[in-house]
Amino acid sequence: MTPKGFATRAIHHGYDPMANEGALTPPLHLTSTFAFESAEAGGEMFAGDRPGHIYSRISNPTLDLLERRIAALEGAEAGLALASGMGAITATLWTLLSPGDEVIVDTTLYGCTFAFLRHGLAKFGITVTHVDLTRPEALAEALTERTRVVYFETPANPNMRLVDIAAVSRIAHDAGATVVVDNTYATPCLTRPIELGADLVVHSATKYLGGHGDVVAGLVVGGAEQVAAIRLYGMKDMTGAVMAPFNALLILRGLKTLALRMERHCANAQQVAEMLAASPGVTAVHYPGLDSFPQHDLARRQMPGFGAMIAFELEGGIAAGREMMNRLRMIARAVSLGDAETLIQHPASMTHSTYTAEERAEHGISDGLIRLSVGLEDVADILADLEQALPGAAAERAA
Ligand SMILES: Cc1ncc(COP(=O)(O)O)c(C=O)c1O
Repeated sequence: MTPKGFATRAIHHGYDPMANEGALTPPLHLTSTFAFESAEAGGEMFAGDRPGHIYSRISNPTLDLLERRIAALEGAEAGLALASGMGAITATLWTLLSPGDEVIVDTTLYGCTFAFLRHGLAKFGITVTHVDLTRPEALAEALTERTRVVYFETPANPNMRLVDIAAVSRIAHDAGATVVVDNTYATPCLTRPIELGADLVVHSATKYLGGHGDVVAGLVVGGAEQVAAIRLYGMKDMTGAVMAPFNALLILRGLKTLALRMERHCANAQQVAEMLAASPGVTAVHYPGLDSFPQHDLARRQMPGFGAMIAFELEGGIAAGREMMNRLRMIARAVSLGDAETLIQHPASMTHSTYTAEERAEHGISDGLIRLSVGLEDVADILADLEQALPGAAAERAA
């Protein structure tokens, strides 16, 4: 009997305790290298004519289980585990692109992804073109015969813009381009880009997939051939960004509770977004679950839950925002996201400080924007901490 549900696959897929001395938790294969049965067998493995593990920068049984499990959750043929989300993104793009090619990317991207494109890829003869992918028709106009890859995040970090994955994938495929989606914010629990037509998905598994803020990790999923190419070129030779086996075990542990955690994350975030939207002094709240969110209809079509990332702005801009952040008592002032703890940060001076001020203005990242990763605490405590820190409450305190 094959377990089929998402939560069941996240717990069981690819592992049989009976094949591992009854151990309920998969073994940790803490080894850098693997012995060959014979010199000939080793040669055959290197030639790709014989299955098996050679060296842990190429593959490892603990990583292999994680790779099969994330592929099963994303509805993909194959997966690949890497040292970090940036390791996953860079290994993927180094593999897909060559000098002379063009990559079309959305307007808003996580700061280090933006920096990699602008200061990394662009230095090596690859054209990086930013297009507003919230308008799929803009992609149709922008594609050229040199476009090899279309890359975006949905929801985008930090301003929560959504991209219609099915529409963008159709247009990109008509032009022969490969579609890569960063699914870090949504997780396969809330969006499965491959089922909607994308080719490859990258993750910062550091976030919701790990879920406990104790590991930095990355994943790629997609077609078997493309993932094998990213393994053997982007990871093995170009970046060497391999995941440590112990970290794979932490991500496997995180995945077991992903569905449960996302349910609570989403429920908490909805209440927090509604409270912020109703608070005087809050001038904008960007959350896909709000009726006022400009792409709410797309969110309802594409996401069975709206996630737990919120961006908002205060009257008084970043000065008011910093004061509010400094008044918080429980919520941690910290970058990263997707942890049990609620985290708050200021993208312009932190995660997106890799953009210049002019670039941030051009790319829709306002200086006053505050990013909140709503955690798993009792929602009443999250609300209370925010409420006592918001400018209205501060004015009352002073009165
Ligand atoms: C959307 C997104 N993608 C990729 C990354 C990079 O992941 P990592 O920090 O695991 O390298 C991050 C990190 O914050 C992110 O938010």
